[in-house]
Amino acid sequence: MTTIMDRRQLVLLLSTLAALQVCVTASACNIPSRFWCDSKEIALECGVYDQCKKNEWTLNQDAAPVNFALYYESLCPYCKNFITTMLYPTYLKLSSITNLTLIPYGNADETLVNNRWQFTCQHGAQECVGNIIATCTIAIVKNIDVYFPFLNCLEASNLQPTPAAQQCATQFNVPLNEILNCTTSDYGNQLEHQMALRTDALVPTHTYVPWVTLNGVHSEAIQSEAQSNLPKLLCDAYKGVKPAACSSL
Ligand SMILES: *[C@@H]1O[C@H](CO)[C@@H](O)[C@H](O)[C@H]1NC(C)=O
Ligand SMILES: *[C@@H]1O[C@H](CO)[C@@H](O)[C@H](O)[C@H]1NC(C)=O
Repeated sequence: MTTIMDRRQLVLLLSTLAALQVCVTASACNIPSRFWCDSKEIALECGVYDQCKKNEWTLNQDAAPVNFALYYESLCPYCKNFITTMLYPTYLKLSSITNLTLIPYGNADETLVNNRWQFTCQHGAQECVGNIIATCTIAIVKNIDVYFPFLNCLEASNLQPTPAAQQCATQFNVPLNEILNCTTSDYGNQLEHQMALRTDALVPTHTYVPWVTLNGVHSEAIQSEAQSNLPKLLCDAYKGVKPAACSSL
């Protein structure tokens, strides 16, 4: 609605400019002024670049990506299902507008024993292994476009986390030895503790997993829409020009 209003105002502004500029020479300007912001080249040629930038482009382009975060634990069936059937396929389509953050910890607990964090996980010790494998992968690989296919593979696997990682590493290019080293190191222990802190800092406190936030906000409606139609949720939240993948929703 605001975009339409702003566009009308802009057309008015451009018409005024056109009326004033009696000598519009460039050929690209021999089109109705409402088209002058259609490309940067036309706008430059028509001398309205700054006006277009101020009034229209900033509304529609260079928008910030949508922040979407998933708090999960490696072996919970609903997390596995959400990641493999909704989040990963959606991310493949909408990564250009999404700043995705994965926080593998979930309903775990931690206590400090002899300067090392000891984790207790809802689905047993193996889940803690899966969480720290994911955490170390995120820290070591850094690029989500590289590590998410691997983490998705882990969640799709019915193997225990370590053999799953060994198998998934044959399909996706991650430094497996470095990751497995990390999982037993003090560094990995600290990394997982950071995931605990981020999870415990949630407001409101999470009461289940998977637990999502959209631009830092959690509500039951957001959670429900994320689980039923995540592409729509992300496309609606994105303020820039929608990518093609948004148009078929
Ligand atoms: C992406 O999300 C992380 C936190 O999850 C944040 O630190 C970072 O600033 C975000 N990046 C952008 C471009 O918003
Ligand atoms: C893993 O740890 C072992 C023993 O500490 C070390 O020899 C090896 O170089 C490490 N590998 C990688 C890839 O970090």
